[in-house]
Amino acid sequence: MHKTVLLHESVDALNLTKGGIYVDCTAGAGGHTEEIVKRMNDQVKVIGLDLDEDALKRSEERIKNTNLKSDVLWRLSNFRNFDSVLSEEKIEKVDGFLLDLGFSSYQIEDSGRGFSFLRDEPLEMTLQKTAGPADITAKMIVNEWSEESIANIIYGYGNERFSRRIAREIVSVREKELIETTSQLVGIIENAVPFFYRKGRIHPATKTFQALRIAVNDELGALEEFLEKSFDFLNQDGRIAIISFHSLEDRIVKNFFRKKKDEKEGVLVVKKPIVPKDEELKENPRSRSAKLRIIQKK
Ligand SMILES: C[S@@+](CC[C@H](N)C(=O)[O-])C[C@H]1O[C@@H](n2cnc3c(N)ncnc32)[C@H](O)[C@@H]1O
Repeated sequence: MHKTVLLHESVDALNLTKGGIYVDCTAGAGGHTEEIVKRMNDQVKVIGLDLDEDALKRSEERIKNTNLKSDVLWRLSNFRNFDSVLSEEKIEKVDGFLLDLGFSSYQIEDSGRGFSFLRDEPLEMTLQKTAGPADITAKMIVNEWSEESIANIIYGYGNERFSRRIAREIVSVREKELIETTSQLVGIIENAVPFFYRKGRIHPATKTFQALRIAVNDELGALEEFLEKSFDFLNQDGRIAIISFHSLEDRIVKNFFRKKKDEKEGVLVVKKPIVPKDEELKENPRSRSAKLRIIQKK
């Protein structure tokens, strides 16, 4: 079961008001939307987006099971394209956007798409269930991209200090065989890094896997594109609440919110990001890197 992070804090952040329209940009397991529906029933409209169709099905089922009155639309879409969904629904402005970035526990545990270095799965790492012909997969990156590009990704998105050694080992192995599975990649990483690192506190593949996932899904590009468009679609006093899980995402959110504040278009609802309390950290270790930032449109 996916445990929703900063559940109450992030729904409080939306400042829900009767008649409002809210976009849950990362439906996931429906945890945040469920909380909105529990508080407001069908007095607000929610549009739930996800690019994983299983996430949408799961979320829809969850809201049905509450037996509460609700007004929720589920749409399969990247949140970078939220404007297309709104225009299809003939909605010009909304009162809040909520983003709970990254991936859900279901995607790690059940998707079979290679998010976990602890499982032997095909190296896909696409957040969407079925990758289209134009979509990049982790398998494509490790087998087709240049050694330098691979090293740059692993360093830039994973902050992996052994990025060059890992990229070199990937290229040397792929000359002999296609790299198709997570187990192959884990073996390559273990061979490339020094002994002490292999036996360190975190699994030696952690950072490389994070980096590949970010690259495959263009996660930072999607966030930037979303932010650039978001303000034009917010009503006055509308809010954006974003939970990020690593410093690259958080920096993008922080800088964008600061820019809107400096341009006098927005007000920071909290100066410092909200982080999980001890109790949540104890119950859900995944929440340890979460940061919630909130801005309100002037
Ligand atoms: C952390 S989970 C959200 C969990 C959800 N808030 C809950 O409480 O159940 C993140 C979800 O966002 C989705 N996601 C990530 N990037 C996305 C994007 N650019 N567009 C749409 N969905 C995205 C993932 O597929 C995943 O289902």
